[in-house]
Amino acid sequence: MSIQWFPGHMNSAKKQAEEQMEFIDLVIEVLDARLPEASCNPLVDRMRQFRQRPVLKILNKIDLADPAATAAWKAYYDARPGVTAYPMTTKKPADVARIPALALSLAPHRGVPTKPLRIMIMGIPNVGKSTLMNALLKKRVAKVGDEPAVTKTQQKLYLDKHTVLVDTPGLMWPKIEMPSDGLMLAASHAIGTNALIEEEVAFFLGDILLERYPQLLTARYGFKTEGLDGIGVVEQVAARRGFRVRGGEFDVEKAAHVLLHDYRSGAIGRISLETPESRAARLEAHRIE
Ligand code: G4P
Repeated sequence: MSIQWFPGHMNSAKKQAEEQMEFIDLVIEVLDARLPEASCNPLVDRMRQFRQRPVLKILNKIDLADPAATAAWKAYYDARPGVTAYPMTTKKPADVARIPALALSLAPHRGVPTKPLRIMIMGIPNVGKSTLMNALLKKRVAKVGDEPAVTKTQQKLYLDKHTVLVDTPGLMWPKIEMPSDGLMLAASHAIGTNALIEEEVAFFLGDILLERYPQLLTARYGFKTEGLDGIGVVEQVAARRGFRVRGGEFDVEKAAHVLLHDYRSGAIGRISLETPESRAARLEAHRIE
């Protein structure tokens, strides 16, 4: 499967983040609540642990995620040293408004004008970093133009008198260890797919939906799920929507596109692609391979 996941500029983003880590107090790592570990860059944890910086893991897009899975992920992360999880959606201003106080509670020695709390926001592309930054800064946008640390690719922004945000461009990792992570990221639009692999991604999504959310499939498309596999799900979407190519065959390409679009928009329902348990099982299977 050919997924482009490490464009050149991400190498320089990694270097910048490594350098910056020394001068910040807290990392805010934005994850996609539907696939927290698949959307987590292992480099972030490695970098912050090296400097012993705490992390606020934002489980963003909870409006699209399965609430039970999100609760399980929160418990999972909160049990880890130096980690606090915050499930939220940038769509709710009240969720965003809680972040500054939460951040300060994780680095209480900072947050006075002489010692502002310095936060670095990190995360892979498409998890909602820019949306979050904009929502946070809406309160008081003050770009500090003459800061020496400001570079073309990295911004330093004052959230208030006591809090500085350092933004880094989207950061990915050089190698996705498990193919299922690549498929989850593609399903959720964090990485691009071409038409050929869109079908593969939709089959994978179909398998997860069958296993965990068959009732949502039936409710959305009106077919029974017994005896189907991921390919069968996509074919059933084609059958129900009347997607056929010349000769009467199912138009699998079109159905794959629709299934993925419906998942991404939340039209099928609130769906999480992984839970702490399913993650552990995948890791174990991958280790044995
Ligand atoms: P990035 O900086 O990390 O790359 O992400 P960005 O803020 O650009 O957000 C990526 C997409 O996710 C945007 O949609 C944005 O509106 C959406 N998004 C951000 N936060 C939330 C959230 O809490 N809930 C939901 N449902 N969506 C959120 P987009 O531009 O339409 O992109 P796409 O979704 O079509 O890929």
